Amino acid sequence: MIIVFSGCGNTAATASRLAAITGDETVRLSPAVLRAEAPVLKATGTRIVWAFPTYSWGVPPVVRRFMRRVRLDGADRLTHLMLTTCGDDIGDCAAMWRADVSARGWEPGRAFSVQMPNTYVTMPGFDVDTPAVAEAKVAAMPARVSEIAAELDRPGPDLIVRGSWPWVKTRIIYPWFVRMGMSPRPFHATERCTGCGACARRCPMANIALDADRRPRWSTECAFCLGCYHACPTGSVAYGRATRGKGQWPGIRTRHPNQHPTTEPKEC
Ligand SMILES: Cc1cc2nc3c(=O)[nH]c(=O)nc-3n(C[C@H](O)[C@H](O)[C@H](O)COP(=O)(O)O)c2cc1C
Ligand code: SF4
Ligand code: SF4
Repeated sequence: MIIVFSGCGNTAATASRLAAITGDETVRLSPAVLRAEAPVLKATGTRIVWAFPTYSWGVPPVVRRFMRRVRLDGADRLTHLMLTTCGDDIGDCAAMWRADVSARGWEPGRAFSVQMPNTYVTMPGFDVDTPAVAEAKVAAMPARVSEIAAELDRPGPDLIVRGSWPWVKTRIIYPWFVRMGMSPRPFHATERCTGCGACARRCPMANIALDADRRPRWSTECAFCLGCYHACPTGSVAYGRATRGKGQWPGIRTRHPNQHPTTEPKEC
């Protein structure tokens, strides 16, 4: 079973690709499940793959919260694996994930990372990849996933890109980022907004509602995935002034990758 959290579709597409090879059932966490106080899920298959994007060299807080709270029937008898997508590197994300899995009394196994187009844009110096770099990452993904699929049930080292200063990034920067860098408050729609609702439809937390004038309003249940920012067809979602002049990653397909008929994980 592959349990998927994905804001902008990279992880969903990567997990779907893996599932197409391994035949694992793929379940994408719905807003209701992610927001639930005591979610319940039934483990299926021979292993559990936790698939999520790397956030600030760690596990997205919304995924950690879900891991802490879920009643995952059958999870004790299975090995847990990690599949993360990232723009560049994951620091000590695998160590953080392993600690979270162990804290539940589950058995953590290997961790795998896949580079995909970068979605993080809300700090100075961070922007989306050039089209050529994004295309190259997307083109390389299937081969990387095949390599991972062949390793899933074998013992061995993690297949990850840790990058430089992993300890500092995960132990020092991650907690700071979670406290200071993930507030949804600065999100707003600029005057170019047409009221199409694509931002609200994309949100994996159901955190955006359109008001009577069809202007999006952000609430507080935000995973900071930036899906709303990247989904806007008119580039109208802004994060304070931080996103001025920044690019968007439209996703592997121009439509929401969720809608792919055969490979889209089912929602739970
Ligand atoms: C809040 C946030 C933090 C991120 N932090 C990292 C990071 O530490 N390292 C990295 O390589 N990519 C980072 N990224 C990029 C994403 O991990 C990457 O683009 C991922 O494929 C997005 O997956 P998704 O489309 O499933 O949401 C970050 C993206 C966001 C939105
Ligand atoms: S409001 Fe935007 S950034 Fe927050 S969870 Fe929804 S789509 Fe992601
Ligand atoms: S996706 Fe963009 S244009 Fe559409 S409602 Fe949201 S902010 Fe407005």
